[in-house]
Amino acid sequence: MYCSSAPGKVILSGEHAVVYGNPCLVAAIDLRSEASVEVTNEEMIEIISDKLGRQTFNLEPEISGSELGLFPIAAVAGSVLKKAGRRRGLRIRVSSQIPFGSGLGSSASVLVAVASACSNAFELDLNLEEIAMLAGEGERKIHFKPSGVDVNVALNGGVMIFRRGRSIERVNYPDGMRLVIGFSGLSRKTGEMVKKVAELAESSKDRFEICLMALKDITMRMSKALASSDLLELGRMMLLNHMLLCLLGVSSETLDKLVNSAISSNAFGAKLTGAGGGGSIVAICSSKDEDSVAQKIKESGGIPLIVSISRDGVRNWKM
Ligand code: PMV
Repeated sequence: MYCSSAPGKVILSGEHAVVYGNPCLVAAIDLRSEASVEVTNEEMIEIISDKLGRQTFNLEPEISGSELGLFPIAAVAGSVLKKAGRRRGLRIRVSSQIPFGSGLGSSASVLVAVASACSNAFELDLNLEEIAMLAGEGERKIHFKPSGVDVNVALNGGVMIFRRGRSIERVNYPDGMRLVIGFSGLSRKTGEMVKKVAELAESSKDRFEICLMALKDITMRMSKALASSDLLELGRMMLLNHMLLCLLGVSSETLDKLVNSAISSNAFGAKLTGAGGGGSIVAICSSKDEDSVAQKIKESGGIPLIVSISRDGVRNWKM
C-alpha cells in the first residue's frame, strides 16, 4: 500500500488578491490529510473517505448527479491512470485532520496526498510540479479559478510568497511558531466568494484597485516582519489586512466577532483567512497568551485550534 500525507494551510495575507496575480503569504500547518492507495484487479476506482463515505467510479471518472462528492479525488486518480497508461483498479482511502470548508486547505491537501500516493503506486517518479498539476486539476473541479496557492503550500510546506505562474519564494519564520485559529463552524464555498469579489471588481473598479494595491504592500511588509520575528508589526498588518478584506466584502459578522475576541484577549493581530464568508480567522499572539485567546474564541462561538507551522510538505511512505 502506498501512502502520502500533506499539510493544510493558513493564508496570512493576500487571499483573493492572489487570484488577480498578486502575492500571497501562506503557511503550511501541522494539520494533515492522508491518502493510502492499493492497486486492485477490479475495473473501478473505489474511494473511501472518513468524512464523505464510500463512492465508486469508472476508470475514466465522470460526475454522477449534481453533487461533486468524491469526484475530484476520482478525477485526479483517473488522470494518474492515464499518465501511467494502465487500466487497473484503485482503492483509495482518505482522511483529514482539517475541518471541511474551514478555509484551511482541506481539499488541496487531500488532492495532493492522492496525486502523490497514486503516482507512487505506479512508480511514476513525478516531480513536485507534475504532482501540483494533477492535484490542481482536482481543485479546478471544486473551485472557480483556483490560484494554486493551496496546492503549492501543501506540496512544499513551510512559509512562502506565492504568485500565480511564478516559482515560490520561501520566507523565514521564528522557530516553533504557532498560530491560533478560530473556525466559525460555518463552511462555505470558495468559488462563490471568489465570484463575489469578481462582481465587486466589475461594479466598483476604484475601490477594488485600491484594496489590491494596499494588500500587496501589506503582504510584503508581513513577509519582512515574519522573517525578522517582529510579531507586533505582523499583528498590526493583520488588522489592516482584515479591514481591507471587509472592504472587499468577504468578511461576516461572525468573523468580525472572532477577530475582535482575539484582539480583546491580547493577540498582536487577527484577520479572516482564506475565502471568507464563513471559514476561519487566524490570530498571532505571544505563547503565554495562546490559551486565553483560544478560550475567548470559544466563548464567542468559534472552534479554537492552536497549530504550529509545518516545515514539511508532502510525505510519502509504503506499508
Ligand atoms: O479555499 P480557501 O478558503 O483556502 O481560499 C483560497 C484563497 C482564495 O484566494 C480566496 C482563492 C484562491 O484560489 O486563491
